[in-house]
Amino acid sequence: MKIKFAAQATGDAIAAPAYAKAALSDAAKALDEASGGAVTRALEASRFNGGAGQVLEIAAPSGVEADRLILFGLGERKDADGGVVEKAAAAVVKHLLVSGAKTLSLRLDGVADTEASARAGLGATLAAYRFDRYRTKLKADKKPSLSVVEIVVQDEKAAKKAWKGWEGVADGVALARDLVMEPPNVLSPPEYAKRVKKLEKEGLEVEILGEAEMEKLGMGALLAVGRGSEQESKLAIMKWNGGRKGDKPIAFVGKGITFDTGGISLKPAQGMEDMKGDMGGSAAVVGLMRALAGRGAKVNAVGVVALVENMPDGRAQRPGDVVTSMSGQTIEVLNTDAEGRLILCDALWHTQEKFDPKFIIDLATLTGAILVALGHDHAGAFSNDDELAERLHRAGRASDEKVWRLPVGPEYDRQIDSEIADMKNIGEGRLAGSITAACFLQRFVNGKPWAHLDVAGAAMKGNSKDPRHPAFATGYGVRLLDRLVRDYYEG
Ligand code: BES
Ligand code: MN
Ligand code: ZN
Repeated sequence: MKIKFAAQATGDAIAAPAYAKAALSDAAKALDEASGGAVTRALEASRFNGGAGQVLEIAAPSGVEADRLILFGLGERKDADGGVVEKAAAAVVKHLLVSGAKTLSLRLDGVADTEASARAGLGATLAAYRFDRYRTKLKADKKPSLSVVEIVVQDEKAAKKAWKGWEGVADGVALARDLVMEPPNVLSPPEYAKRVKKLEKEGLEVEILGEAEMEKLGMGALLAVGRGSEQESKLAIMKWNGGRKGDKPIAFVGKGITFDTGGISLKPAQGMEDMKGDMGGSAAVVGLMRALAGRGAKVNAVGVVALVENMPDGRAQRPGDVVTSMSGQTIEVLNTDAEGRLILCDALWHTQEKFDPKFIIDLATLTGAILVALGHDHAGAFSNDDELAERLHRAGRASDEKVWRLPVGPEYDRQIDSEIADMKNIGEGRLAGSITAACFLQRFVNGKPWAHLDVAGAAMKGNSKDPRHPAFATGYGVRLLDRLVRDYYEG
């Protein structure tokens, strides 16, 4: 989707906002006048009342050149901030995407400030996202027709500049979604690593470690998970140095299980295909790094993603195996399907040791239990640092990628003590499964400020009513973490 900013509406579809109780904006009033009252008549004939996210289309109006006029709702005028504009723009784009309309002029002149106008660009881009790479027979009338969104503003120059700060974020979300959407026979760990390596052209430094290098580092837990796979496990390390020289970096770590069969503790067939998305945490980290580079964020950041396939095989690890992690701590593997924590523990240890970061945030589609607790609309947050947890919470509200904090603590941590090793990789029974998983990770951050986001619900099959979400991969985490960096760690 091409996003433009202009002073005049030239599209074949022109959209203007209305507020609660169907109060027309000045732009909408102008359209009403030009069309000889078509807008008011359509209003009267419909149940459109200007609620946030509502869309009303008026086809082939007389008196105007456009083929369509669209009225879209922003709700209460005082609440219509950047977030509301973002979502409303998404609703209009979703409505028009395959409608035959080619260029949408979104009239935000006199309605939204510069920042909110740029957020409209983000919403439009998120809603236009498609993953059509493997469709060879898509009929012409099912293909997207809309290719340009022209956002009408008073100050074009300022809006364009503000958009520069969001375009990178839109690209980062699209990248994260593509990675999650890709089928697991295509996106193996080596292929994934190659795609990360390509981000060097965006200005990131990228280093890829293979199994031999990880062996040398002593990453026995990560390597054990990949033993049943024909595909080589990889660790991809991305660096963005946009901050002051010598400033400690902030660090993000992602679970990148390119397919999770469960291993020898095999998962049931029903729904197993979703486990191509078991790399959603890593995709958010990669997308975030792309976003930070794309918008030239003034921060030093590292992103570390562990890329491994969890398969059953003659060489696969067994329930009962004991492995030694890079930290030296030993782990009794009682369930090979609790593999995410095994790859993360080595990635976390390496990250804190090598980069001495200000904090580490890890993202992982870690437990089915987090879906039971929170569904798709919040990620579970766990932290040893109240300030970091609070900031994540606020960034979640501001970006509309929300988190909800759950506890960690000794009562839960005790559950992962093992009879024969330093710990085991599952808790006692099924209770508090997301928390015992977080406690496991906490044993590998060496006391550093840390937060863990369990995104098993948020990364996949998001809110189908949200016009910014496609059917499967939400790209969750990119906007949240970008917001966190923007609001607290830049400059
Ligand atoms: N990748 C899964 C968690 C998951 C489940 C993500 C559903 C998205 C949707 C993870 O590796 C897993 O299998 N976790 C187990 C842990 C258990 C064996 C302690 C689970 O949640 O059942
Ligand atoms: Mn698993
Ligand atoms: Zn998994």
